Amino acid sequence: MIIDHLEEPLPGSSLKPTPPGEAYTDPEIFAREQEHIFERQWNCVLRADSLSTAGQWKTATIGREEIILVRTRKSGIAAYFNVCRHRGMRVCTTGEGRNKTLQCGYHAWTYGLDGELVAAPNLTSMPDVDRQEYGLKPVHVREWLGYVWVCLAEDPSSFEDTVLGEVRTSFGEVESIDNYGIENLACGETKTYDVQANWKLIIENFMECYHCATIHPELTEVIPEFADGLASQRAGGQVHGASFGGEVEGFTVDGSSGVSELPAVAPDQERKYYAITVRPQVFINTVPDHVIIHRMFPISESRTTVVCDWLFLPEVVEQINAGTLDVSKSVELFHRVNQQDFNACELTQPSMSSTAYRGGGALVPSEHHIAEFHSWWYESIGMPTASSSEGPAAEAEAVAEHAAEDVVEDAGESSAEASSAVRSTP
Ligand code: FES
Ligand SMILES: [Fe+2]
Repeated sequence: MIIDHLEEPLPGSSLKPTPPGEAYTDPEIFAREQEHIFERQWNCVLRADSLSTAGQWKTATIGREEIILVRTRKSGIAAYFNVCRHRGMRVCTTGEGRNKTLQCGYHAWTYGLDGELVAAPNLTSMPDVDRQEYGLKPVHVREWLGYVWVCLAEDPSSFEDTVLGEVRTSFGEVESIDNYGIENLACGETKTYDVQANWKLIIENFMECYHCATIHPELTEVIPEFADGLASQRAGGQVHGASFGGEVEGFTVDGSSGVSELPAVAPDQERKYYAITVRPQVFINTVPDHVIIHRMFPISESRTTVVCDWLFLPEVVEQINAGTLDVSKSVELFHRVNQQDFNACELTQPSMSSTAYRGGGALVPSEHHIAEFHSWWYESIGMPTASSSEGPAAEAEAVAEHAAEDVVEDAGESSAEASSAVRSTP
């Protein structure tokens, strides 16, 4: 049973266990993650300035749902399920556009930017149809750091307690991330990576620097302490500002100077790199002159899209666009880090289905904080660990209940045991 497996240290107190390989390969577990994590929690979807004028819209996939994000005339950006309330056709059938209304291409039901049903063939002969009631189904929206965050749950968790709470825990105080003025920055570069790996491998990789000396030669030149294997994110969720090397002038691929520093960066944030994970799908990296933000969109149990933005002061981006300033050395550093990390994740993914990894792997002490991510994951998919408040009785009940439901066929004894544990249903 995996819960016990996590609670008990591996032989030798230096190592802690990871989830079994199946956690990274099983489509049923992935569906459970979609339902319990990505469709319930706050997701960072797109930059608010990518929808700059009224009527401009984009579609996005969150969990197993497609949504429309549209800038309204008066109430900022709204989001709706991309599902026509008549008979269900996708209302928006391309990735983006700009329209005065959103019209379904099947029977022409037409929705205003605020979601209400404003027109349909013969609608006036059906005066009992409530145009609000039959409007597009709304999705909860927040704007923060210049991004649009959505939560598909009908009754969303508090943005303050979850997203801001996560940042507060990591950065110590939300105010210190405020020093970077991220909401006022502009995007100088965006790169999209199609990573053939489970989203959890990408988070686990991002949380540790045990691998830095092996695969990140450029990064460890700029931040020599990363070569010692200690990550910016530490136990208890605290973030450590990792110092630039003595000769390093900026966070660039060759350590040369970067661009204009962000004006409100505090003295103790100068010449330092900070990184935090905002679960379930965002990484924020800050350096004195720019900010790098990753958004992850899991596609399947073995494939994840990662979108990475490099954010600079608006005047810097104006110069980039005018061709008078070159930030390629700034962008290149984290682009290489991304490529190196994602390559490692892709070379790890196939092993997740190996019998040699059936029981999972090990976390060394500098990776022990990742165990907290694993506990969060187990709880989020409805699999509380023995240390949670629900206690062993509820846990045993959940496992027993699941054992009755388990329909794994043709599985060997040990893999069936592993399956029942991770698939346990609350
Ligand atoms: S399904 Fe959209 S108008 Fe009929
Ligand atoms: Fe890395």
